[in-house]
Amino acid sequence: MIDLRELIQKISQAKDKLELQNIKSQFLGKNSQINQEFKKLGSLSEEEKKIKASSLNNEKQKITEAINVRFKELEKLEISKKLQKDKVDVTLPARERPNGKIHPVSQVIDEISSIFSEIGFSVAEGPDVETEYNNFTALNTPEDHPARDMHDTFYLDNDKKILLRTHTSPVQVRAMLNGKPPFKIIVPGRTYRCDSDQTHAPMFHQLEGLHIDKDITMGHLKGCLDYFVKEFFEVKKIKMRFRPSHFPFTEPSAEVDIGYKLENGRIIVGEGDKWLEILGCGMVHPNVLKNAKVDPNKFQGFAFGMGIDRLAMLKYGINDLRSFFESDYRWLNYFGFDPLDVPTNYRGLSR
Ligand code: DAH
Repeated sequence: MIDLRELIQKISQAKDKLELQNIKSQFLGKNSQINQEFKKLGSLSEEEKKIKASSLNNEKQKITEAINVRFKELEKLEISKKLQKDKVDVTLPARERPNGKIHPVSQVIDEISSIFSEIGFSVAEGPDVETEYNNFTALNTPEDHPARDMHDTFYLDNDKKILLRTHTSPVQVRAMLNGKPPFKIIVPGRTYRCDSDQTHAPMFHQLEGLHIDKDITMGHLKGCLDYFVKEFFEVKKIKMRFRPSHFPFTEPSAEVDIGYKLENGRIIVGEGDKWLEILGCGMVHPNVLKNAKVDPNKFQGFAFGMGIDRLAMLKYGINDLRSFFESDYRWLNYFGFDPLDVPTNYRGLSR
């Protein structure tokens, strides 16, 4: 017979769940003494069977109860041990979590989009892979124009029909073919040319502007750019000049320079007697309107195109364009923008 008191004591002192499990299978399992005794019940008389069965059941219940009690105790013990071990030291300094930074190009695109949205421009986009037709022909570029040269343009097929767009101007054509006038859009995006030095990268960013309506004049163009440059460089006064130029897709065409001066090696925009070219512009050529299915006898307007990377370099004092595209995390950490600490003229518009 089992000494029940001894066994219950043994159970209550089991060190861990494994020991308890072993006791359980030893004393209640298939080959346990109790089980054997249960099997023998059949050979007893009815009377004896009743008495024996009742005492066996009683024994079994006590052992089970003792095991359950100890099991709960061990479980509590385990939890408190774990809590002890994983205790949080609230006096430790917080672990540093590196924040992502916004790339200066993304930042400047957001700033520019925000500025133009204030005067009613919406943002349009087009593909990087363009047809030769949209990139050149529809924009009134003659067959023998030097920009079509293999040296400048990345062609993607032998027939020179598909290319990486060399400017954002083809989106003018796409936008006009896709809608009805008036048009008032800006187009930020990637552009490509075979070029690489301190101020040129084979991939760079441009921003196109297009405003077409019944009575849009060069005066509107001037007012629009004057507003933009002041807002972008955050200055009240700006010296700006329109220099006659030539683009196949505009007539007349102009390049725009802004006044600046150097102060301790830093460029101060808006004043001074030096000139810096920042964009090309003009009145959209009637041939472009015709190619884009807009009637040049009813509609007219202006277009402009500027280099986004150059504007970012100017505004934020970055002097090597190639560093923009090297994906150097240290560089981005230094020149990038904290997403939660936005500059003053950012109005929260995202692309
Ligand atoms: N597409 C020109 C370039 O890449 C820039 C440009 C000039 C765009 C005049 C225009 C424009 O829309 O009117 O150099």
